Amino acid sequence: MNLELEGSVAFITGASKGIGRECARVLAEEGCTVVVTARGKESLEETARELSERTGQKIMPIAGDMSRPEDIERAVAETVDSFGRIDILITCAGSSPGGLLENLTEDEWFSSLNLKFMGYVRACRAVLPRMREQGSGSVVLVVGNDGLKPTPWETTAGVANAADINFASAMAEQYGKSGVRINTVNPGPVNTDRWEGLEEAFARDKGVSRERAHDLAVGSIPFGRICEPEEVADVVAFLASPKASFVHGAHVPIDGGQRKALMDI
Ligand SMILES: NC(=O)c1ccc[n+]([C@@H]2O[C@H](COP(=O)([O-])OP(=O)(O)OC[C@H]3O[C@@H](n4cnc5c(N)ncnc54)[C@H](OP(=O)(O)O)[C@@H]3O)[C@@H](O)[C@H]2O)c1
Repeated sequence: MNLELEGSVAFITGASKGIGRECARVLAEEGCTVVVTARGKESLEETARELSERTGQKIMPIAGDMSRPEDIERAVAETVDSFGRIDILITCAGSSPGGLLENLTEDEWFSSLNLKFMGYVRACRAVLPRMREQGSGSVVLVVGNDGLKPTPWETTAGVANAADINFASAMAEQYGKSGVRINTVNPGPVNTDRWEGLEEAFARDKGVSRERAHDLAVGSIPFGRICEPEEVADVVAFLASPKASFVHGAHVPIDGGQRKALMDI
């Protein structure tokens, strides 16, 4: 299927690795110019170089911390200065810690909300008014299935994700009238560095081996495996594209039908 994205400009937060990197690859393969952001400058530049060589598209790295309002505004302004517009916004910069209520610190709660919720809000605040002026645009927030399926061990991610989903629904009401589509994608466990770290923390907190933690995750998904980042990226690219022209205000799960309660031992 041709996603009709040739010549579009995409801005992706949290894209030096994992799901964001795969989103950048798929969109570039579909003919987009892509701006990628992350904090680590070296790995971001390396990712941009690799993707550019692989796809032949312009991939521009802009280093910055997407929990800091000034970094988001600077990155968006640099993108608009360079390419004149942003057609697609994808937010992936998130790193909420796992843990039980008794063990989570104030800092962990605030840093989770500051990046995974307010970081997404700030990215939308910087980009949506520009899309409204353009009269077009598509936003996909990569959120997480614990926003829809709460578990006691993933509360910092879960509440930030639930807030993102609520926020996206509200923005869909407001900006749909201006031709801007907004949707969320909600993965379960995905094979990235973030998931590896979560499995390690889960094993530590529950007093089980790393292998047992992995088996519990896999056992909660009928397919008997976790998701690959490119499977998420394909859904994101479709939603971002004109082929999803009537999909708006939707919260799309991509978790293989995970029953999260089966992980709760
Ligand atoms: N993997 C999963 O199982 C899973 C499941 C559900 C939802 N999600 C969500 O999907 C998104 C992507 O997750 P992932 O698994 O792809 O993570 P990942 O592999 O850890 O990659 C995260 C990316 O975000 C960047 N990043 C982290 N903190 C940042 C910050 N403050 N400012 C700018 N960039 C930042 C990282 O680069 P730097 O560290 O260099 O900044 C990296 O490029 C996250 O929002 C996550 O919550 C993931």
